[in-house]
Amino acid sequence: MSTNSTTPAAALDERRPKVVLGVAGGIAAYKAAELLRRFTESGHDVTVVPTAAALEFVGAPTWAALSGKEIATGVFENITEVPHVRIGQQADLVVVAPATANTLARAAHGLAEDLLSNVLLTARCPVVFAPAMHTEMWEHPATQANVATLRERGNIVIEPAEGRLTGKDTGKGRLPEPAEIFELARAVLAHGGRADLVGRRVVVSAGGTREYLDPVRYLGNRSSGLQGYAIARAAAARGAEVTLVAANVTLPDPAGLKVVRVGTTAELRDAVVSAAEGADAVVMAAAPADFRPTGVSEAKIKKAADGSAPTIELMQNPDILAEISHHRTKPGQVVVGFAAETGDETGSVIELATAKLKRKGCDLLVVNDVSGGAVFGSEVNKAVILGADGGHVDVAEGAKSALAEVIWDQISLRLDEQPAN
Ligand code: CTP
Repeated sequence: MSTNSTTPAAALDERRPKVVLGVAGGIAAYKAAELLRRFTESGHDVTVVPTAAALEFVGAPTWAALSGKEIATGVFENITEVPHVRIGQQADLVVVAPATANTLARAAHGLAEDLLSNVLLTARCPVVFAPAMHTEMWEHPATQANVATLRERGNIVIEPAEGRLTGKDTGKGRLPEPAEIFELARAVLAHGGRADLVGRRVVVSAGGTREYLDPVRYLGNRSSGLQGYAIARAAAARGAEVTLVAANVTLPDPAGLKVVRVGTTAELRDAVVSAAEGADAVVMAAAPADFRPTGVSEAKIKKAADGSAPTIELMQNPDILAEISHHRTKPGQVVVGFAAETGDETGSVIELATAKLKRKGCDLLVVNDVSGGAVFGSEVNKAVILGADGGHVDVAEGAKSALAEVIWDQISLRLDEQPAN
């Protein structure tokens, strides 16, 4: 008779990532139900640990039905299983969403008065807090000090989103969209919670700029912004404070980032230069239009009666990457460019990219071979990362999120030689 009592189903269950979803008592608790669904539907084993106050907003039956597990809030329930120790110890990831000012304070000070606070003390895995509260409470020095303490300990505390709060007021304090918290949590799980960018301020540009000819027509390009968004998201998941400068991107705002929306190359330049002031790293994943019309017609340009086509005179736009690279505003600032190359009669993809790396003066150049229109709008990417120090990293075809992690690994290596703020 076999002594191994593990059934195939139980073994499969063992391999599912174990996520603890902590829910604190805020109006945004209802959004955590959607976050829970996203985790369970993508194969995660989720234990929901609400606070007693959270159950005032969304009751235990909802959490139990969606997670398939009984719900406890106190340390004296199911006591024989020692849940206050076991749940935290066994978790691969803890996500607290929404995290109220009270829960952040209890976590920062190590209080252990209910099941969630005990889980937070026993967890040795990555912990993500997604705060949601009124702007005044978020901005209060006590909350900010607690957030700083939690971040110093390697926790990921994502910035709340701006927008409509409970009642009629608006401001910073909204829980980011559950889909975006989920993406960030997935990134944290994927890289094992390496919070190597805590204390770092980084800038990422994404999307393609548009140069208007008249109020309705523009010169643009095919950049979707997917790669830049993946890079920004990965940085936030590693603990960085991220400004994402997005040119004409229709994707939803990633959780926990400052998003600055721009249209033209001149606007992109101003936003990137301003955000890059004193930043630790700048990643230029955007595709700025290299040229713009010398003038923008205020009225829509009409077709000529004689059938002739108008001539559009163009002028060069500023080269943002070269400007940032040649005017560093912080010692050791790491600057990363992208190159979409096809290769031509003057050189191969790598030869042209190596020359571009030198010309632009950046530290790293992420090179995509775009012969045949590969990359644009696609979920996958394949690249070579060239270093100004002669480094050369091949990244096999994979998700844009995977390339984003390799880019941050390379940046992080270079930042490690510099002190954090
Ligand atoms: N870039 C920039 N400002 C511009 C054009 C490009 O900062 N006006 C940045 C892009 O964000 C990217 C890198 O430069 O990181 C490479 O862009 P690419 O268009 O390949 O470079 P170009 O200088 O336009 O080179 P080419 O002559 O090959 O078009």
